[in-house]
Amino acid sequence: MKIKKAVIPAAGLGTRFLPATKAIPKEMLPLVDKPTIQYIVEEVIASGIEDVLIITGRNKGSIEEHFDRAVELEDNLEKTHKEELLEEVRKISKMINIHTVRQKDPLGLGHAVYCAKSFVGNEPFAVLLGDDVVDSKKPCLKQMIEMFEEYNSTILGVQPVAWENVNKYGIVSGEKLNDKIYTVKDLVEKPAMEKAPTNIAILGRYIITPKIFEILENTKKGVGGEIQLTDGLKDLCNIEDVFAYIFEGRRYDVGSKIGFLEATVDFALKRDDLRDSFKAYLRTINLD
Ligand code: UTP
Repeated sequence: MKIKKAVIPAAGLGTRFLPATKAIPKEMLPLVDKPTIQYIVEEVIASGIEDVLIITGRNKGSIEEHFDRAVELEDNLEKTHKEELLEEVRKISKMINIHTVRQKDPLGLGHAVYCAKSFVGNEPFAVLLGDDVVDSKKPCLKQMIEMFEEYNSTILGVQPVAWENVNKYGIVSGEKLNDKIYTVKDLVEKPAMEKAPTNIAILGRYIITPKIFEILENTKKGVGGEIQLTDGLKDLCNIEDVFAYIFEGRRYDVGSKIGFLEATVDFALKRDDLRDSFKAYLRTINLD
């Protein structure tokens, strides 16, 4: 079955980025000059998906505006002959069919995904978290879709993380099928380092079968008092095959300050219009 729909949960409170996220969603914070959520939407498009549902919440109106037309701005750019910027701004509103639904209370990622039930229907679908931006030759989601086409079952995008960081992630326990794939036997959300079965962490990319909705309907609050997607997926692997795929690419945790700074520097250095002047500036910094 083809993956045609993607869900981007963006209703979290972004407390790690306060006070910036008091009035602005963290998904709108820019890496250089593009909001992080646009990188995610571009990954979805480059992976061949045509419909996206963004799960929004309070204070998230600017996400909808970002992907909508901005008639006055476009008029102004046209009149002032700023063709390149006009093209850039128009491109965003034409990118893809963007749908939104509100998660009324931030009850957790599992609850946010459950809000996509009627949009998704009875098909496997992709989930991408805006906190994880992946820089890779082949889009991360495309790699995942290719794995789904091979295994026809739920696929979790994973990579090994430093052991001292396992308590920040959903952690996979399973059997290695080959260099890239594990059969998932169990999952644990944010375990203490001593209790973690592995250091293989789910990093914000999933292809999930619709069976998850039946499960999430009954999933109880877990770590942090939130309805956790990991807990739902843990139940799913008792019913269906679930695989973990080690994707290729450099992943940035842009929901954390340090990950955000790393991504900002690396992305700026990749830009033709900034590289030379930014490098020249970086060379002037005394790092001691
Ligand atoms: P996080 O826990 O990383 O996001 O959730 P957060 O709560 O916004 O961040 P901090 O920890 O307070 O800084 C992972 C993803 O799940 C979404 C978030 O928007 C993020 O993309 N999420 C989380 C929801 O959509 N709804 C929720 O109730 C919780």
